[in-house]
Amino acid sequence: MNIQIRGINIALEDRGAGLPLLFIHGYPLNRHIWDPQIEVLADAARVIAHDLRGHGDSSASTGPHSMELLADDCQALLEALGVTAPVVLCGLSMGGYVTFAFFRKYPEKVAGLILAATRAGEDSPEGKANRDKAAEMARQGGAGAIAESMLPKMLSPKSYVERPELVQRVSEIMQSTSLNGILGDLVGMKSRPDSTPTLRQIDRPTMILHGSDDQLIPLSEAKVMQKAIPLARLQIIPDAGHLLNMEQPQLFNAVVREFLGEIQK
Ligand code: MLT
Repeated sequence: MNIQIRGINIALEDRGAGLPLLFIHGYPLNRHIWDPQIEVLADAARVIAHDLRGHGDSSASTGPHSMELLADDCQALLEALGVTAPVVLCGLSMGGYVTFAFFRKYPEKVAGLILAATRAGEDSPEGKANRDKAAEMARQGGAGAIAESMLPKMLSPKSYVERPELVQRVSEIMQSTSLNGILGDLVGMKSRPDSTPTLRQIDRPTMILHGSDDQLIPLSEAKVMQKAIPLARLQIIPDAGHLLNMEQPQLFNAVVREFLGEIQK
C-alpha cells in the first residue's frame, strides 16, 4: 500500500494486529529485505515495513536525509496509520541510526528496540571521506555502481559464494534505490551525531542482533552497545553477514518472536 506523509509518497507493508513492530531498513536497501519477516511475524505483532524516502517504491526528495528527518518520517507514518500504542522499532544498520534518532525524539512512543547489524558511533574521518567517494561513484555510475561495490560485503563470504539467488535479490534491491536516495543517505550518515551518549539513556527492553560474519560493521560494535544499554541482550547469529535477517531468517525470527513475547508479558 501507499500513504502520503510530509509531501512524500511512502510505500509500505502493514500486516497483523496488536503490538506495533516497525521495521527500518538500511542503506541502500528497501522494505523487501524484510520479506522473510513480514508474513511470518504477523501473527505476533502488527508488522509495518516501509521504504524510506528515495528508496524502493517511495518517492524521493532532494537534500540530506538526516537521521532525524528519517525518524520524523517514521513518526508521521505511524500517525497516519493510526498507531497510538508504543512501538517496537527494529532498525538494521542505517535503520539502527534512525532508531537512535527516533528514541531521542519520541522516547514515550518506544516499547522496545531491536538493533540489528548496527553501531552507535559516528563516522570516523576516514568513514566520512568514504561517504564523499561513494557519492561521487553514485553520481557517475548510479545505484548500479554502488550495488556492485557493496554487494560482496552485504552478505557473509559463505552466502556470497553459495547462495547466488540471495545475492541476486540483494543486488536488485540495492539497484532500485534512487540517486537522490543514495546521496541523501550518504550526507545524512556522514553528518549523523554520535549516539554513544544515548545508549545509557535507553530504558526500554533492547535486543541486539549481529551476524557472526558481518563484514561492514564488526561484532565488537554490538558488544559496545550491549555493555552500555542497561536492559540490552546480544544474540549473535551464526553464518550470517550484514543482512543477517535475510541470511538466517529462522534464527532471526525466533529471537524477535521471543523478544516480542517478553515485551507483552
Ligand atoms: C547500511 O547497511 O545501512 C550501511 O552499510 C550503514 C553504513 O554505511 O554506515
